[in-house]
Amino acid sequence: MTGKYQFSPSIIRVLMVCLGNICRSPTAHGILEKQINNNNLKNYIYVDSAGTGDWHIGESPDKRAVEAAAERGFQIANYRARQVCSSDFKDYDYILAMDYANLRDLKKQCPAAYKRKLQLLLDYGGGGHDTVPDPYYSGDKGFELVLDLLEESCTRLLQHIKERHSLGEYGR
Ligand code: 4NP
Repeated sequence: MTGKYQFSPSIIRVLMVCLGNICRSPTAHGILEKQINNNNLKNYIYVDSAGTGDWHIGESPDKRAVEAAAERGFQIANYRARQVCSSDFKDYDYILAMDYANLRDLKKQCPAAYKRKLQLLLDYGGGGHDTVPDPYYSGDKGFELVLDLLEESCTRLLQHIKERHSLGEYGR
């Protein structure tokens, strides 16, 4: 199963992963998607998000995440939560976990041949943090920190992808 997207072999695919797929990873998805569009790279890079857990499958992102993201110009309300599935390990080139628990869960499921695709998103830069703290039980400040960390790391990730895959401002 590859979900809603028909994969082309030449497109670079990024999967953002957290626990519930209702707070951190949809926010990362929305930020990177906007950056991809702003760079005219939507024919070259595709981003999606998923959770390691199954509690929120089919749900909209958390209202607090939707509102905090919208304040910064990122629209994530239309995303729907899904769980990581076995085909994701083959289909995606970058599978980026928000924290060590997500990364550990991904490593358990991932075939050996694809393990190199698994990383922490903040390996690309996170202003002194190595992981994105789970904001689910935190107040509004937690969601602001998530946005701060994700905006910086997605900017750096996109720069890395552009350089590594020789994508100029208008693609290859
Ligand atoms: P997320 O946040 O992993 O950033 O989507 C969470 C959402 C839901 C739960 C935990 C974390 N939960 O326990 O339901």
